[in-house]
Amino acid sequence: MTHAKNDTAQGSTTGSGAPAPSDRNSLTIGPNGPILLHDVHFLEQMAHFNREKVPERQPHAKGAGAFGVFETTADVSAYTKAALFQKGCKTEMLARFSTVAGEAGSPDTWRDVRGFSLKFYTEEGNYDLVGNNTPIFFVRDPMKFPHFIRSQKRLPDSGLRDNHMQWDFWTNNPETAHQVTYLMGDRGLPRTWRHMNGYGSHTYMWVNAAGERFWVKYHFHTNQGMRQFSNAEAKEMAGLDADYHRRDLFEAIAKGDFPSWTLSVQVMPYEEAKTYRYNPFDLTKTWPHKDYPLIEVGRMTLNRNPENFFAQIEQAAFSPGNTVPGIGLSPDKMLLGRAFAYNDAQRNRIGANFHQLPVNKPKVPVNTYMFDGHMTYEHSGSQPVYAPNSQGRSWADNTGKMEDGWEADGDMVRSAYELHAEDDDFSQPGILVREVYNDEQRERLVETVAGSLLGGVRSPVLERAFEYWKSIDADVGRRIEEKVRSGQAPEPAAGMSEA
Ligand code: HEM
Repeated sequence: MTHAKNDTAQGSTTGSGAPAPSDRNSLTIGPNGPILLHDVHFLEQMAHFNREKVPERQPHAKGAGAFGVFETTADVSAYTKAALFQKGCKTEMLARFSTVAGEAGSPDTWRDVRGFSLKFYTEEGNYDLVGNNTPIFFVRDPMKFPHFIRSQKRLPDSGLRDNHMQWDFWTNNPETAHQVTYLMGDRGLPRTWRHMNGYGSHTYMWVNAAGERFWVKYHFHTNQGMRQFSNAEAKEMAGLDADYHRRDLFEAIAKGDFPSWTLSVQVMPYEEAKTYRYNPFDLTKTWPHKDYPLIEVGRMTLNRNPENFFAQIEQAAFSPGNTVPGIGLSPDKMLLGRAFAYNDAQRNRIGANFHQLPVNKPKVPVNTYMFDGHMTYEHSGSQPVYAPNSQGRSWADNTGKMEDGWEADGDMVRSAYELHAEDDDFSQPGILVREVYNDEQRERLVETVAGSLLGGVRSPVLERAFEYWKSIDADVGRRIEEKVRSGQAPEPAAGMSEA
């Protein structure tokens, strides 16, 4: 007996593959009659539509991305044995860029830190680097992270964003000063994602083939050059085209204008961490390049747009916990907190088997002892489901000292980090304001901060904000206070409430 083939060119099908009866008319008794319960196709359309959204990311909900390749162009085998960082190795990858605080439909050009997430499909499994366009972060203990994010999102009663709440959090947590100085400076408004740098931000560990350990920081410098919007331009663009950054990346790649970034690392020998002038695991600090110069590693080029935004970008699951041999974490408490947070978010957002989806699936064989659950697709057939077993299915059995571990000792405490010689919250932001920003950039910083403070920040947070800025830089703090007290309303920062 022969079966007629289902010709999809002639019409749609049901989810189970049979020809669908109609995508225009539901089944009724007579043209004006009631709809019949056995119109299975209609019910399937309604029911699936109700389930077509998944929760958005909390945070970093608005973003987009593209596929590409990372090529290691330099020999850094002295520092890491990771296969993807061996000279000549080319690795397929995915990048996603995002804003932090806005929701999935929010404007791309609101002043915010930008996410810079990378997934490398390496021959040793997937390696994810989930960073930002800034080399530091607002806080240094993961306990503070949910509080920080909520202070940047919306008020419980009105559902509005609120400058007062933002500054209340920042001024109550002075370690935010460095990142706030970046955010309120030009880098808070990148012109496009192609025109911004990316950073791993945290300190990570690299291990070479001889088992020697190093601390590293990743810097991805844009080869398009750094470009930013002014407050006025960003504000106008937020109204003209809320998806401006998403569109820019997609259109550039579609016309063959492939953006690229050069990766360099700073490398600190393992032992130097103990005595370095700054705690190298404090995420609010950078390592001055004169202490640890940049060492070039390779280049990432984005050259392929997604074919389906939901399947390949919304369902993409990045996690700082996804490491490969030769790369490890570090004692940075934020990083250790993140190692849990991401996959847990994705089990909630996408489902327990998110790692089986094509965009997240490693390009190497998987032999995992995680089983079943909603939407299981990949499976290990009838192989043993327990380890150890006597039927020949392999299992992992590392014991003893971890090659990417570090020594730890002491009582259990709840405490800030022990301070290193030059650790404090205001010196590095002060250097950023005085030595990195020029006169025009400093003036724009003053305008932006004053505009933000005039957007509804009240006493005593307002006075605390003046002191915060005077601690960063006396002159800049004084100018901000003068502007605010004189009631001058400079261009308010895009995405923040206005006076
Ligand atoms: C303890 C601190 C942190 C926690 C608990 C945390 C938690 C999260 C969570 C739950 C998500 C959503 C993940 C998802 O649904 O797929 C997320 C997204 C993200 N986070 Fe964090 N985060 C922390 C700190 C940081 C830091 C320090 C950076 C950058 C250096 C960062 C960069 C990102 C980026 C870029 C995304 C978007 C990922 C994507 O493109 O899918 N986060 N974070």
